Amino acid sequence: MFIDEVNIVNFRNFEKFRLKFDKKNYIIGSNGSGKTTIIESIYTSFYRKSFRTPKPSELIRFNCKSFTVKTHILKDNLNNNFYYHYSNSNKVHLHNGKRIKNLYEIATNFPIIIHSPYHEGLTDKLNKNKISLIDKTIIILDKEYKIKLQKFNKLLKHKKALLEKNNRKLFNTINELIIELYDNIYTKRLDVINTINKMLKELTPIKNIEFKLIKPDIAKLLNMENSKKKLFLTLHSQKLYISKTNTNIENFLSYGQKKELSIYSIYCLLKVIEENLKDDIILLLDDFETGLDEKKVKTFYEVFSKNQIIITGVESRYLNNSDINIISIREQNE
Ligand SMILES: Nc1ncnc2c1ncn2[C@@H]1O[C@H](COP(=O)(O)OP(=O)(O)OP(=O)(O)O)[C@@H](O)[C@H]1O
Ligand SMILES: [Mg+2]
Repeated sequence: MFIDEVNIVNFRNFEKFRLKFDKKNYIIGSNGSGKTTIIESIYTSFYRKSFRTPKPSELIRFNCKSFTVKTHILKDNLNNNFYYHYSNSNKVHLHNGKRIKNLYEIATNFPIIIHSPYHEGLTDKLNKNKISLIDKTIIILDKEYKIKLQKFNKLLKHKKALLEKNNRKLFNTINELIIELYDNIYTKRLDVINTINKMLKELTPIKNIEFKLIKPDIAKLLNMENSKKKLFLTLHSQKLYISKTNTNIENFLSYGQKKELSIYSIYCLLKVIEENLKDDIILLLDDFETGLDEKKVKTFYEVFSKNQIIITGVESRYLNNSDINIISIREQNE
């Protein structure tokens, strides 16, 4: 898969902007020049929303009424044009001129992977973001999984209504179904995490480090639900953290160590997906060099040598390879 071009109108700080890409790209510009915005516009053209805000309305340029993003993607030598036009009253999302009804198909056929200070993969500050990254990966590998997640959320909705009505008998029956699904989802997530851990052993210089997924005390959560009349057993109540010899070391890793682990885990997920799809994934690496030493920057660049990458940064400190297309956005804006 290859992104050839992005075209944006009234998207954050850009009024009109068009950019062509090579295989290796490095977007350079001062703080606030719009580097993350470019990556964000690409992401939004596929998934209709950004990784840094759940509200697409925030992406509309100040004092404007709508934004438009277009991307041109080559996949198996075929042209794919994505178009997303958003205004508060009208949303049009097209793939090759046809309305996109099923976002799931886009996510599975055109997966792109992002790493950004706003979305730090499996080391993100928010447990919710870590878990949804694992879920997104499983959905690509297993169609049934999406249905399971939807079913689980439907059951939770029912349960919420029952909790308000205080219907004990139905409450217990619905919980049996929920727990069965919850265990099933846990096992699927654990499978992916075990695969990542196995790959990490070979990759990371930090010894004995792994990701742990912890299932909460279900009986305790159900009791709390009963007494507080609020849902506690949700899709995000399983906690994912970084562990070393069974201790949660998330708060003890240095910034660079955490970032390294984060990018390695992105690499592992990418490999798992690529193996399944038999296609190379596009990687968006926002603020890539920040916090990494020269050796790590160069190692990662090697590791992703097969993929199309779009890197951003205020400057290129260590990557001066002649094969990188340096895009200075200040120049483009003038
Ligand atoms: N809706 C909006 N309308 C207009 N401008 C916006 C909007 N949202 C954000 N901005 C501005 O867009 C600019 C680009 O932001 P962006 O985060 O892309 O910068 P950046 O180049 O990634 O900076 P940094 O080097 O700090 O990461 C900023 O000046 C920001 O204030
Ligand atoms: Mg930025």
